[in-house]
Amino acid sequence: MMISTKKNSGVWLLAASAVVFGGAVVTKAQPPERSVWSGVYTAEQAERGKQAYAEQCAACHGDALGGIDVAPPLTGATFLNNWNNTSAGDLFSRIKTTMPLNAPDSLSGRTVADIEAYMFQANGFPAGEVALPPSQPMMAGVKIQAQKPGG
Ligand code: HEC
Repeated sequence: MMISTKKNSGVWLLAASAVVFGGAVVTKAQPPERSVWSGVYTAEQAERGKQAYAEQCAACHGDALGGIDVAPPLTGATFLNNWNNTSAGDLFSRIKTTMPLNAPDSLSGRTVADIEAYMFQANGFPAGEVALPPSQPMMAGVKIQAQKPGG
């Protein structure tokens, strides 16, 4: 099972892998399961992220993350389908290396993590006690699950 960061830039491929593998994406040396449902960012972090989002992303993706023209929504069913069964680390890399579209890799890891926290909040994932860490490997074990487990 190889979900590389590069592959995740292909939305069609993500959709396909979600269909093929369903909920059974298993990686090697799996730490205790953590997902976006277990409270992986803080409310303060999401607040910082909201600010950064407004400055860096809203012009293309919309004030309410709903998308504008070719810039897709960053909240809702389509977005969650695209990212279902990937990890917070995958999404971090996608944002860090390709966004803002007009200035890729211009944001610090901390700012990207803050924006990701805001996106998680906007998608209905709960806040918790510990902030989303500012680098990809540190959040690679956090699974993105569109549906709340058992819910
Ligand atoms: C200049 C316009 C522009 C800006 C600014 C911008 N984006 Fe994007 N973004 C796009 C476009 C267009 C796409 C779709 C094409 C692509 O993937 O490159 C996209 C795609 C994405 C995706 C993939 C969505 C999916 O469902 O797979 C994410 C995530 C994303 N952007 C996040 C961000 C974040 C976070 C910021 C702010 C840091 C940002 N973008 C800033 C234009 C922009």
